[in-house]
Amino acid sequence: MKEEVLSASAAETYQLGRKTAKRLLSLKHKQGAVTVGLTGQLGSGKTVFVQGFARGLEIKDQIVSPTFILMRNYTISKSDQFKYLYHVDLYRIKANDINSLGIKNLLTDKSAILIIEWADKIRDNLPPDTIWISFSHRSIQSKRHRPKADEFLRRIKLDNLNE
Ligand SMILES: Nc1ncnc2c1ncn2[C@@H]1O[C@H](COP(=O)(O)OP(=O)(O)OP(=O)(O)O)[C@@H](O)[C@H]1O
Ligand SMILES: [Mg+2]
Repeated sequence: MKEEVLSASAAETYQLGRKTAKRLLSLKHKQGAVTVGLTGQLGSGKTVFVQGFARGLEIKDQIVSPTFILMRNYTISKSDQFKYLYHVDLYRIKANDINSLGIKNLLTDKSAILIIEWADKIRDNLPPDTIWISFSHRSIQSKRHRPKADEFLRRIKLDNLNE
């Protein structure tokens, strides 16, 4: 199922992340880790979404962009099923470094949720039930929406987030 949302501010994108995490917790999951693949240009809102997503999982730690470390993990304490959130950012990864991240091993872990920025770089390695979320800048601002300094429209498409 595909869904499309227009977000007019970072706060809206954050809330969408929060709600998406809550929906995900109620999904029936068969095997392996839950994977969420985020795609879209620089500054399109992926990290903001992850921050809201972590909030939805009741993770209290501050979510910082893992750009230089590639992967950070957080403990999920409020769920019986899930124990860890892995936040991965593949922006700087080189093709031959992908294996060294150990993502393959994580994919078999039922207690893990992986949320991956620039996930299109490893699209073929992710399970078919990956939830894909694409972010894009929307160049035409609506007449009624007058953005504040840091508020711009983003189009966010969610794919595979089945009930
Ligand atoms: N509608 C919106 N949704 C999300 N972020 C927005 C929106 N409008 C403005 N912003 C701003 O855009 C920026 C989005 O940055 P963010 O780090 O989330 O992007 P990103 O997709 O993770 O980029 P990168 O590819 O560099 O990791 C933030 O500074 C945020 O405040
Ligand atoms: Mg980011």
